[in-house]
This record gives sequence, C-alpha cells and structure tokens, in this order.
Amino acid sequence: MDRRAFARSLLGAAGLLALGDAPARAAEAPDAWQAAFDARRTQQPWQMGFEGLQADAAPMPLEMRGRIPPALYGSFYRNGAARHVLGGERYHHWFDGDGMLQQYRLGPQGAVHSGRFVRTGKFLADSAAGRPVRAAFGTNPPAAEPIRSADALNVANTSVVSHGGELLALWEGGSATRIDAQTLETRGLKTWTPEYAGMPFSAHPRIGRDGSLWNFGVSSAAGVLSIYHVSPDGRDVRTASLQVPDIAMVHDFAVTERHLVFLLPPLVFDLERMRAGQTFVASHVWRPEMGMRVLVLPKDRLDAPRWFMLPAGFVFHIGNAWEDARRGVIQLDYIRSPDAWWATQGLQDLMRGRYQSADQAAMALVTLDLQSGQARQELLPHAAEFPRVDPRFVGQRTRHVLVAERVAAGPRPGFDAVTRIDLQTGRADRYRYGTEVLVEEHLFVPREGRPEGHGWVLGTALDLQRRAMLLSVFDAQHLADGPIAQGVLPRVMPMGLHGIFVAA
Ligand SMILES: [Fe+2]
Repeated sequence: MDRRAFARSLLGAAGLLALGDAPARAAEAPDAWQAAFDARRTQQPWQMGFEGLQADAAPMPLEMRGRIPPALYGSFYRNGAARHVLGGERYHHWFDGDGMLQQYRLGPQGAVHSGRFVRTGKFLADSAAGRPVRAAFGTNPPAAEPIRSADALNVANTSVVSHGGELLALWEGGSATRIDAQTLETRGLKTWTPEYAGMPFSAHPRIGRDGSLWNFGVSSAAGVLSIYHVSPDGRDVRTASLQVPDIAMVHDFAVTERHLVFLLPPLVFDLERMRAGQTFVASHVWRPEMGMRVLVLPKDRLDAPRWFMLPAGFVFHIGNAWEDARRGVIQLDYIRSPDAWWATQGLQDLMRGRYQSADQAAMALVTLDLQSGQARQELLPHAAEFPRVDPRFVGQRTRHVLVAERVAAGPRPGFDAVTRIDLQTGRADRYRYGTEVLVEEHLFVPREGRPEGHGWVLGTALDLQRRAMLLSVFDAQHLADGPIAQGVLPRVMPMGLHGIFVAA
C-alpha cells in the first residue's frame, strides 16, 4: 500500500482507533474482582505478585551476596503492569495495569533499585479521576471516556528498549514512550515520522548485527500491519504498511539476515465484537480452523509477502530466527501454546485470585522451506516462557535459548526455574529457585570476544516467603551451579514482563 492510500485507510472510522469505539456494555462491578482477590490472598501467597502498587518505588539498596562482575556495571531496566487497582476498582487482566519502569543500578558498590510509573496520558487521566476512566486491554470500566486515539489507552507497560541514544518504554497498541534513562522520568511520546504519529509500535523490536532496529505494529481495526526500520543512530526511519486479512493478535516477530517473520495465531480480531462493547481481548475470536499462518517478508521487498502454514496454536514470544542459506530454509524457535486460553482467560483469572491450571506451553522448533513453501514443526517438552538469546546473534544462528521454566511449581501460576536449552541436543542447564519463588524473565549478557551463549545470565524473581525480590547473576555456562551473585531487595514488586541490560 502506498503512503497516501495508507494514510486514507487510517482516517476511516475503523482506522487509527486501534481499539475501536467507546465501550457500551456496563462492566461487571470491578469491586467484585477486588473482593474475590482479597478473599483468597491469605491462602495463596502467589497473589502478592499481582496485588500492584500505588506509588513510585524510591531508591533502595539490595543486600548483596557475591560480587557483581564488572561487565554488568550499568542498568538493568524492567517494565511491567504495576498499578492493578485504582479507587478500589481492580483491572480484569494482568496486561491492563499502568507500566512501571524499574531500574537496578549495578556497580562496584552493589545494586540499588528504583521504580517509577510511566506518566502516560491514561495514567494521568485515571489518577486525576481517582479511578480508571479509560479502557484497558481486558477491562472496560463503567462510564469510561470515549476513545479518541490509541495512545489515550497507552499504558507503556510491556517492555523497554535502548536505541539511538533513547530509552523507550513500550506497549504494543500505540506509541513508544521516551524515558529519562537516569531519573526514569517520562519525556513524552515518540514520533518516528509525522505520518506514523500515534501508530502502534510493538513491544518487541529486534536490533540486529548492524545495529539497526526493526519493529512492527498491528492496527487491529484497520487490519494493517506496519513495519519500522530505524538506523543505528535513530535518525533515519523507514516505514511501510500492508493490509493483512483476518489480522490476529501478534505480540512478537523475528528477523533474519534477509527476512521478517510473523507468526499469526488464529486469534482473530472481530470489529463487530468491539462495537458491541466487548473489551479488546474479548474482541478476538479463536478460529483454529485457520491454522497458524506464517508471514515472511523480504526486508528489501516488503510488498512481496510469502505465506506458510503451521498447525493452530497460540504464541506470545519467538526466541530467534535465522537463515540456513545452504538448505534454503529459515529456522525459528518459539513458545507454543495449543490454544489462547491462558492468554485470554488464565491471565484474567489471576487478577481475581483464581488459578486453575498452567499454560500447556512447549518450545517449538520450526523450519520454513523457502523453495517448497512447506513448514515443519517439532516440539520440545519445556513448559516455558520469556525466551531470550545472546543479543549479539539476533537474526543469526543460535544454539542456546534462555527461558523461565515451570518444572514443579505446584498449584500456582508462573515459573520456578531458569533454563538454558541447547536446541541442537535438547540438553537443559537449569537452576531451580524452588516452589516458593516466582521467576521473571532472565537475560543473556554476553562476554565480548567469546562465542555465542558465553557470558552471564541476569534476572529477577519474587521470593514469596521472604516477601522480597531476588536479583541473580549466573555464569551463563553453569546455571545449575546457582547464582555467582545475588541481591535481595526487601520489598515486593509486581510480577513484570520484559527487561534489558544497558552497560554503564
Ligand atoms: Fe512480550
């Protein structure tokens, strides 16, 4: 689609308002969710990870055991939904709450933690009203304001990226938000180009070997997939958009040397549901007969899509993808769920203190044959999430993927281990935190000059017995040996999503 036609498509009634019109349906009384949450909290310690915060987290040092390697001096930033309740009204989905950017400042003196809510337009409007007055991913508050733009609902709560000299808090339905890397203060929305102001910019950009950043955005109501390519210094931005029939909920993508790869689970947006007053998440329909479509776009021919087909399944995250030019294939690994139940229902139930069963996730290895157009998939038995690879090898062949894994977590949500999976042998190097700890995403921090997967693993976890956060550093080659350094932050932070490490 050319730019002018694209701009026209966005000006239509079903255009820029990615989340549709104002909800008409009277929501279930939100206080019922808070009451349900409160009723179970003493029996279910895991709920402390979903209680939420009301204020910024002032700087606080961690009690350190072991020494932080000098290569990790810098900032470990994390993002996640952190205000789940306002004025007694509790949100109905884990992804709804306002984003808080957290910083663990690491240096020779140890680690200091702080956290600050992103001052989005929604955060400010809701705060001023004393209750949620704008819709969220899975909640339509009663008497909510009409939705005037996607960014009116932006909670900047999903991930964080550092690129072109800027730190950006990311959501996926609207703009990135600029953050002061030192003070965590909010500097405003990021505009990449005037035509793409306010357009969705996903929470999973990929920075490849050349330092340029690729990202995408899904405009659900318009059925448009937008592509961004940003030069390493952030100054040169190329954009494109294409119409995708039956657009799906797409949270992540992959880049290879020559291609962009999208997995489209059959969780398809239905504008009529949204017009009828459903929440954004409930406006998606599970249509397994469609299978999992795979869209492959050549980086130099974004107008020449290729399609592949996999069995129906749901996906949030892709680990990595790369080209095997000799075999003429793209290899890709992702976390596959058999359906979208956990995403749509399981993560809602947590917010009212309900937990039925874990997501039935597995690590999936995919081969896309560019000659024959065939796709093959193999499953590895790891109930895992948050796949991360050595950042030096994004889009290149990788052998190791790091995940938060559920080994024997018991009757509660989340993960109890951090695991490095060798995709060639299937071997797993694993550290089990234990069943009283909720494990968050862990990252690779590479040791320069060494091969892929060499360096450190850095991550956080919530210790339910100590009511404290654990910040752990592992030798990436020896996870099972346990942390080489660990800090204890004596306060509970809400279970979050994604993070990055930025060297000092
Ligand atoms: Fe994500």
